Amino acid sequence: MSELNNIALEIISNGKGILAADESTGTMTKRLEDVNVPSTPENRLLFRETLFTSQGMSQCIGGVILYDETIKQNAKNKKIPELISNMNSHPGIKVDTGAKVLAGSSEEKITEGLDGLRERLKEYYKLGAKFTKWRGVYSISKEYPSKLSIHSNAHALARYSSLVQECNMVPIVEPELLMDGNHSAKDCYNKTSEVIKKCFDELILHKVDLKGIILKPNMILAGTKSQDKISNEEVAKLTLDCLKNSVPNEVPGIAFLSGGQSEIQATENLNLINKLNKTNFIMTYSYGRALQQSALKFWSKNIQDIEGTQKVFNHRAKMNTLAAQGKWSKEIENK
Ligand code: 13P
Repeated sequence: MSELNNIALEIISNGKGILAADESTGTMTKRLEDVNVPSTPENRLLFRETLFTSQGMSQCIGGVILYDETIKQNAKNKKIPELISNMNSHPGIKVDTGAKVLAGSSEEKITEGLDGLRERLKEYYKLGAKFTKWRGVYSISKEYPSKLSIHSNAHALARYSSLVQECNMVPIVEPELLMDGNHSAKDCYNKTSEVIKKCFDELILHKVDLKGIILKPNMILAGTKSQDKISNEEVAKLTLDCLKNSVPNEVPGIAFLSGGQSEIQATENLNLINKLNKTNFIMTYSYGRALQQSALKFWSKNIQDIEGTQKVFNHRAKMNTLAAQGKWSKEIENK
C-alpha cells in the first residue's frame, strides 16, 4: 500500500471524518461576529483549541483542516499540528488562496493559489501537515457552471493535486457546487456529474495517484430556492448514483462537505448514504459548519466554558461518526 493511500485511509476509516476548521480569517471573523465574540487571534485559537483537545476529536476526527494562521499557532506550549497528532488525528492545511472572479465569465469564480505553491507546500510539510485542501466553487443555473469554469477549475485542482503528492501529502479535491439558487435536484445531479468527471479527466492527465486522494464533493440537493422538495432518501440515492458513475474505483474515499445544510440534515443524509452504499468507497464527512455551529453558539455565551463547549462538539462528532457507519438514528440523536 502506498504511503499516501495509507494516510488517506487513516483519516477516513472506521467512521472517522474530517473537521474543516480552515475558515480564512475573514470568514472566521464573520462567524465570530455573528455570535458577538471579538475576532482576535487569541479568540480564534481558543475556540479551535477547545475543539482540538476534546474527547470527540481523538475518537471521531481522523483529520483537521487548518488555516495558515492556525497551523503556525501554539497552544499549551505545543505547536497546533503536534497537538492534533497527539490527539490521534492528522493535521491538514487549506492551500488555495480563495476564489476570484473568472476572467471571461464575470459571474463565476476560479480558485487561485498555484503560483509559489510548491514552496508553500514544503513549508507546510515541515510544519507537520499530512494532507491539504483546495476548493473549486461552482454556481448552478441554466448556463452555469459554464464549460470555461468546469475546465479551468478542474485544471487548477489537478495541478494542485499533483504538486501536493510530489510533496508527500494527500490532496483533498473539493469541487463544490453551491446550494444557492432555484435549480432542481436533477439539475444538481447532472452538473455535479459533469464537474466531477472533468476533474478526474484532468487528475489523470496530470498523473495524480488516485489511491492517494480524498474527494470532497457536495451531496445532490435541490437549490435553496427550488420548489423541488425531495426526501432525504432521494438525496442519498441520487448522491450515490452520481458518485458511482463519475468517480474512478481507485479513489479510497469520499468526504462530503455540508455546504449550508443544518447539522441534523447533514448527519441524516450521510447516515442514509451509508445505509444504502453498495460501492467500495468509504463515505464520510468533512464538515465545517455542520460540526461547529452548535459548539460555537454555546461557546459564545461564555468563552471560558471549555468543558461545556467540548460536550456539545463531542455529541456532534459522535453523531456524524455513527452516520458515517450508517448507525445513526433520531433516537440516538435525542438521547
Ligand atoms: P462546510 O461543511 O461548512 O460546507 O465547510 C466545508 C468546507 O471545507 C468548505 O470548503
